[in-house]
Amino acid sequence: HPTVFLERTDSTNNEAKRMAEAGASHGTLVVAENQEAGKGRRGRSWSSPEKSGIWMTLIMKPEFPPSQASMLTLVAAMAVAEGVRSVTGLEAGIKWPNDIVVNGKKICGILTEMSAEPDYINHVVVGIGINANMEEFPPDIREKATSLSLELGEKVSRAAVIAEVWNAFELYYDKFLENADLSSLREKYEAHLLNRGKEVCVLDPKGEWRGVARGIDRNGRLLIEQTGSGDEGLRAVDSGE
Ligand code: BTN
Repeated sequence: HPTVFLERTDSTNNEAKRMAEAGASHGTLVVAENQEAGKGRRGRSWSSPEKSGIWMTLIMKPEFPPSQASMLTLVAAMAVAEGVRSVTGLEAGIKWPNDIVVNGKKICGILTEMSAEPDYINHVVVGIGINANMEEFPPDIREKATSLSLELGEKVSRAAVIAEVWNAFELYYDKFLENADLSSLREKYEAHLLNRGKEVCVLDPKGEWRGVARGIDRNGRLLIEQTGSGDEGLRAVDSGE
C-alpha cells in the first residue's frame, strides 16, 4: 500500500479526505511531520508539535455498510496498544472506546471520519495521533497526557512504532472482516480494556447512571452491569463520556 509522507499539513485526516475524494486507493497511509490544525474528537483541537509525535491517517474504502465503520476505531485502538507494547514493552491499555493509556495517562487518540451514502461507504479515514517523543505537555493536559519517551525514559523510533501498529492492524482487520464485526476480536480487545471490572459513570441524555464495565459486545458497545438500581443485567452503551 502506498504511504504519503508530508513535512506539514493542516491535519492528516483532512489531507486523507481530500486524497480519498481525488481517487487515492484503499490502504493509502498519510503521515505528516507537523500538523497545523490537528483535530481531536468532539471538535477539540489536537496538539501536534513537530518531530516529536506520530500523526497519521489511513484511507479506507471498505465494502461493508456504513453502520459497521465506527468499529474500525476499536480495531485501530487494539493495533496501537499492540504496536506500542511490542516496540517499547510499555503496558499500553485501552480506555473504551479508543484512548490508549500508559500508566494512567493518555498517549494516543484516534479520530475516525466517514463519507457515506445511506447504504454504502465512499471512504473512511482512520486518524491516529501517538505522543511519541514529547518532553513536556502544556499545563492544562499535563495531568492527563504523557508520551512514550517520558514513560520509557528514552526516545522511541517512530518508524518502528508506525510499522508495528500497521502490522497489527492488518492482522486484526482481516479478523474483523470475517464477520464485519468484533466477534472474533472481543477477547483480545477485552484483554487490553482498562475499564474492565471498574466502576463507570454513564452520561446519558436521560440522566446519569453508574455501573461496572464488563466488556464489549460484538458491535463494540461497552457492556455495563448496573449497580444500585432495580434494573438487572447488562446494558450496552454506544458512546459517550
Ligand atoms: C482524540 O480526541 O482523542 C482524537 C485525536 C486524534 C488525533 C489524530 S493526529 C492524526 C489525525 N489527524 C488529525 O487531525 N487528528 C488525528
